[in-house]
Order: sequence, then C-alpha cells, then structure tokens
Amino acid sequence: MIKRPIIIDTDPGVDDTIAIMLANAHPELDIKAITPVLGNVSYSFTSENALGLVEYLGIDCKIGIGADQPLFIKGMDSDGVHGKGGLGGYMLKNSGREFDGYAWDIIRDEAIKAGGELELITLGPLTNIAITFMRYPEIKPLIKRIICMGGSAYEGNITPKAEFNVWVDPDAFNYVFHSGVPIVMCGLDSTEQAYLTIDELKSMVGKDTKIKELFDHIFNFFINKRTNSTDDDKLQTIYDAITVAWALDESIGTTKKYYVTVETKGPNAGWTIVDHKGKYKKEPNVEVLETADRAKFKAMLEEMLEYYKN
Ligand code: BDR
Ligand code: CA
Repeated sequence: MIKRPIIIDTDPGVDDTIAIMLANAHPELDIKAITPVLGNVSYSFTSENALGLVEYLGIDCKIGIGADQPLFIKGMDSDGVHGKGGLGGYMLKNSGREFDGYAWDIIRDEAIKAGGELELITLGPLTNIAITFMRYPEIKPLIKRIICMGGSAYEGNITPKAEFNVWVDPDAFNYVFHSGVPIVMCGLDSTEQAYLTIDELKSMVGKDTKIKELFDHIFNFFINKRTNSTDDDKLQTIYDAITVAWALDESIGTTKKYYVTVETKGPNAGWTIVDHKGKYKKEPNVEVLETADRAKFKAMLEEMLEYYKN
C-alpha cells in the first residue's frame, strides 16, 4: 500500500476529534505529526487534548508545540461551542507523553523527508502553517497541498461573513492563501451539505468499539445540543471530519478553483472573499469545495466504527 504522509494541524475540539479518529482509521494516511494550535478553546486545552488523543487512539506520530496566540491579534475561543475543555467535558488521560519540538520545525523536517509528498490537513486557525512558511519559506515547494477546513464562499458562522477558524486568525489565512502552495478550502457552505440528523447521530451511538467512550460522549454531546436547539438548528455538521473525508475520498465533493483573498481588518475581518466571477482578474489560488455528499460521508463514519470494532 502506498502511504500518504500527512500532518494534521488542529484545535481539538469535538469535530476535530472525530476527524482525527477518521484519519487514523485509514492506514493509507501516514500521520507523521499532529500539531495543535489555539482555537476552539485556549491553547492549554487544545494542546493537552492533542497529547491525550494521540495516547487514546495509539497514534505513532510526533506532536508539535504550536501557537497559543494568532499572528497579530488577540486570541478568541469559540465561547463554549465545544463544551468544557473542548471535548464536551470529557477529560483525556495523558500518561506523561511530551512534545517532540515546535510545530514549525516538525513540519519543515517532515516536508524535507517526504520529498514533495507531504500534505497538510488543517482543522483550525492557520497560525502554525503561516509561522512555518515565514520561518522556512524554502519548504513551500515541498508541500504537496493543504486541505483546510475554514472559510466560506457565502456566509459566516461568527459574523455575517466570517467562519470561525479564519476569524480567529485572518492574517494567517491570508498569508497562507497567497503562499503559492496548493490549497483546498473546505468551507462552511459546502461542508454543511453533509449534515447529520439527530436520528442519524443516534444510530451511531452505543457500538462496541475501541473508541466507544469518547465517540459516544461526543455524539451524545451533539445529540443533546441539537435536541435542545431551535427548529432550524437541528442538523449537526462535523466540519473537520468532512474535510478529512474529502482528503480520503475526493468523490465526496466537487471543487472549483477561484481567486480567494481574506479580509483581515474591520467588521468583515475573517471573510474569505471568493471571486466567483473573476472580477479581480487574478489567477485562481484556491480550490474551493462546492458540494459534499452526505450519504457518502455518513457511510464513511459507519465504516470507521467497523474499523474500531472490538
Ligand atoms: C470550525 O470551527 C471549529 O469550531 C470547528 O472545529 C471547525 O474547525 C467550523 O467553523
Ligand atoms: Ca477545528
């Protein structure tokens, strides 16, 4: 089997956790490192969650110390969307696993080792990646592509225009989007097409798997949240897992290349401006995910549970 070397840059996070479970269930992805970054909760939690997850899932990879603040602005978290500690109150065990160095050094080393094959799957703010490219610009041609969850071609989830990951660090997104490295943007509007209903969430809980405790905890967290929310908010999107799903099987969604730039200041900071009609007359720099097949995504989660079966 040809293995694809990847690094997962992440701010775990309930949906990040399901995404990492999914990536780990596919041995064709060779997870070289997990690099936590601030985001859903403060860096002290995202980094502890990353260490704990690697132990929980038994992933043999490096873990890098990432950024605890955005490049230039003050850090903001997702205000409780992911529950206490970022994992809906679930506290992972860490039996003393330590970091293997800084995220940007690990990304550089792995990019060199992989000789042009390294892919970055990013599930949070792009701060670690921007720092990597600022410190080591020479490795940019060695990154095969970045598949990122972030942004939106139309509407945001934090402000009318800004999606959370971009809103946390718009400067980092803007820098990386203009870095010349191939980017796939899995934004809100496309990933939300692959929602799960409450009944579909329920159908996946209670399976006898090695990940039962944490998986069920997170799915029950989703179920409670959706059951108790208003009518038009009953559907759960597991954004980061859909991004990993696309990385595993591109037939899950269609993409199209556009010029995309990021608003970094003012009331629309964090807006990924997708130039659908080529008005800026610039070369397309981002492959934008436009559709996502929810039946295929659901099937991938079910297959994942089979993989972890006891
Ligand atoms: C993104 O923000 C976070 O809350 C999720 O983990 C996902 O990466 C969705 O806007
Ligand atoms: Ca995330």
